[in-house]
Amino acid sequence: MKFKISASVETIKPYEAGKPLKELEREYNITNAVKLASNENALGFSPRVIAAVNETLSSMNRYPEPVAHELCKLLAKKFQVGVDTIVLGNGSDDIIALLAHGFLNPGDEAIMPLPSFLMYEISVKTAKGTPVMVPLRDYTTNLDEIAKRVGPRTKMVFVTNPFNPTGSTISKDDFSAFSEKIPRDVIIVVDEAYIEFVRDESVFNSLDDPLKDPRIVTLRTFSKAYGLAGFRIGYGIMDREVAQILNRIRQPFNVNTMAQVAAQAALQDEDFLDKSIRATHEGIDYLSSELTKMGLNPLPTQSNFMMVDVKTDATRVFTAMLGKGVIVRALKSYGFDTFLRVNTGTHEENQIFIKALKQVLGK
Ligand SMILES: Cc1ncc(COP(=O)(O)O)c(C=O)c1O
Repeated sequence: MKFKISASVETIKPYEAGKPLKELEREYNITNAVKLASNENALGFSPRVIAAVNETLSSMNRYPEPVAHELCKLLAKKFQVGVDTIVLGNGSDDIIALLAHGFLNPGDEAIMPLPSFLMYEISVKTAKGTPVMVPLRDYTTNLDEIAKRVGPRTKMVFVTNPFNPTGSTISKDDFSAFSEKIPRDVIIVVDEAYIEFVRDESVFNSLDDPLKDPRIVTLRTFSKAYGLAGFRIGYGIMDREVAQILNRIRQPFNVNTMAQVAAQAALQDEDFLDKSIRATHEGIDYLSSELTKMGLNPLPTQSNFMMVDVKTDATRVFTAMLGKGVIVRALKSYGFDTFLRVNTGTHEENQIFIKALKQVLGK
């Protein structure tokens, strides 16, 4: 290339999204393909969202509200925090990037598990920071090692609870012991994209006692339990001084109007949320039980997805599953060569996945 690329950007591996359904259907000339690869919500979203979106369509010639007051008020009420502690983003991805850009100077370190949700590394490198990767221990976040790696250049640490892709969690006790070892001037980003699905009461939830610790930045999303992935909206709850910085550097219209009204409607439909969580639990239980019956080892999960050891080259299994119209995720790029990650779909989709996997593995 004739232009000299930024040295930190040069090392970035592009984010690999789950294969889109339409792409598979085109390539294989099939219809009704099943996608269980991006931890989306198979139930869709609240019917109230459709009504809100329809009502809003005719005003889409206007710019969005730069600060979505009504939505922030609803979130503030739900979590009993001030509206000025909430930052909305074009997905929680956006807030990850804002944190990196707002707080990292060139060479500053951000510690994260390895493997991790790729947007942490991409955002840190784009902001000219240095990601410090700490390998998992038994498929869980190695909090002791993360704490040991904190040094004078450390500005932030990322933890994900529940963890993607393994589904493991951090307990209240473990988080408390961990946070005591982190210096006062280090931001602790707690990414809770899947927290609504957690059933185990011993799991840490940063919004049980919001803003108690000014170092904690909680990241949440409407993409998973609320089913709004395509709208692109997530939020962060954080110390108001941190929120001020992110609001200073974000694009003024980073959350589009449709996303704002969809999230507002979704938040007000607790019945849909309950239904979505219940269906997810049923799906997870069904998948775990069927995979175990097949002699495979699904990892325990508190999320809407699970990792399963297929005991053979998982990329080959992934490709063979595509031929059967089922998209899952092979985890070779995460260092798990024999593992697939699959999320819950509708019951019918889950059955199709199990049937296809049995055929591919000759079970
Ligand atoms: C751990 C984790 N964090 C953040 C996100 C991003 O979510 P959003 O759709 O809000 O950008 C995802 C999406 O898959 C995720 O798995």
